[in-house]
Amino acid sequence: MLNTEQMNSRIKRVIFSEDEIKEKIKTVGKQISEEYRDKPLLLISILNGAFVFMADFIRCLDIPCEIAFMCAKSYYSGTVSTGEVNITMDVSQDLSKYHVIIIEDIIDTGRTLRDVAIKLHERNPLSLKIITLLDKPSRRLVELEADISLFTIPDLFVIGYGLDCADYYRNLPYIAEYSEE
Ligand code: IMP
Ligand code: MG
Repeated sequence: MLNTEQMNSRIKRVIFSEDEIKEKIKTVGKQISEEYRDKPLLLISILNGAFVFMADFIRCLDIPCEIAFMCAKSYYSGTVSTGEVNITMDVSQDLSKYHVIIIEDIIDTGRTLRDVAIKLHERNPLSLKIITLLDKPSRRLVELEADISLFTIPDLFVIGYGLDCADYYRNLPYIAEYSEE
């Protein structure tokens, strides 16, 4: 367990402030509200990382929508992905009745989301789109593009606003660079 001082000492610098994130979400929320007006919309968020983004994003939509959660674990040794993906919690809705948007926290190698997207696509949604809060395109190992990325970042390990390191830091209201020390 980290104590508060150890926790704070590993927050290197703030990359995106609470206000910057809020502004971006508002803009994308408006765009999606126009695009999906009067269409059956299901937003699927990938737990745990995307729960904060999901909660803020749906409150920037002014159209009817349903939400669901999936749990996909990518295994990490330290801050490096090992490439194994396991779906540990699935959605129960019949996707053929919905336009589906996947709400993700970050695309790194792309493996997690590619696996999730393939599985959801097989269930014949009316359409399938990916919105990610953060994108690290320089780290991509599989072919996968988000339809909308709110922020593109270089190869940094980031924490906060739902994103963790060893399950800590999800509660930070901003996105920061993590320092290994
Ligand atoms: P991918 O399968 O390599 O694209 O990894 C995606 C998942 O790894 C994300 O959903 C995050 O949970 C985690 N991840 C990747 N990069 C970071 C990061 O910089 N900070 C925190 N979690 C990350
Ligand atoms: Mg994570």
